[in-house]
Amino acid sequence: MSKVALVTGGTRGIGAAISMALKNAGYSVAANYAGNDEAAQKFKAETGIPVYRWSVADYDACEAGIRQVEADLGPVAVLVNNAGITRDSMFHKMTRDQWREVIDTNLHGVFNMTHPLWSGMRDRKFGRVVTISSINGQKGQAGQANYSASKAGDIGFTKALAQEGARAGITVNVICPGYIGTDMVMAVPEKVRESIIAQIPVGRLGEPEEIARCVVFLASEDSGFITGATITANGGQYFAG
Ligand SMILES: NC(=O)c1ccc[n+]([C@@H]2O[C@H](COP(=O)([O-])OP(=O)(O)OC[C@H]3O[C@@H](n4cnc5c(N)ncnc54)[C@H](OP(=O)(O)O)[C@@H]3O)[C@@H](O)[C@H]2O)c1
Repeated sequence: MSKVALVTGGTRGIGAAISMALKNAGYSVAANYAGNDEAAQKFKAETGIPVYRWSVADYDACEAGIRQVEADLGPVAVLVNNAGITRDSMFHKMTRDQWREVIDTNLHGVFNMTHPLWSGMRDRKFGRVVTISSINGQKGQAGQANYSASKAGDIGFTKALAQEGARAGITVNVICPGYIGTDMVMAVPEKVRESIIAQIPVGRLGEPEEIARCVVFLASEDSGFITGATITANGGQYFAG
């Protein structure tokens, strides 16, 4: 069984923790990123995990990137769709670019990465697709119509594809983190961050490693009966029905 895992946005934040946790679990990991070469090279030097630059928003670049990863490491058994961006704005001020960039990365990116890998997983009768959605895809969030739409789309995608993959030994699951202490969250003003923490029953932000441990479990052969699941990891902030 191939033990190759590909993590999009795998060089920073939650993705970096996922790449490391999968490496520690014995996988050959490839970490993709979009453009921050400095962070990627630092991550590579510290972890020994190879890094690959392309945008998940570009289908052709995903196909070429995947071909390169498979030439270097072997067939990809585990895909972690983690790359994601925010372009927050109240809807009446939201530009078409803010809408499009978020949908292109967070939703089209998941198609662009999963589609080229799907046939190989079907042929090999094994695959794991884990997508990182968000609490705000479950409950919606003012100022994030674009982000909430993209992340809700990831959940629907997962539920549909799980049904197609089941007979082929492919599981497809989605994790909805609450607020995690990464660059994305630390970029919001401190006052806003404090008000967010006040809404989290466990009284703190989550750690990237807490999401990474969920991914390692869903990637493993032990999780074969879990597919189409939405795993909520948000410190008790929101319980999806
Ligand atoms: N942080 C949270 O509280 C939180 C909560 C819920 C869900 N999430 C989700 O968790 C995921 C990771 O979030 P994070 O906070 O760890 O983000 P982050 O710290 O901002 O890191 C984002 C990573 O994604 C990469 N990336 C962005 N756009 C990309 C593209 N078009 N193609 C390829 N890679 C791309 C970045 O590459 P570069 O380094 O090159 O920019 C970086 O490696 C996202 O999907 C996010 O929506 C986060």
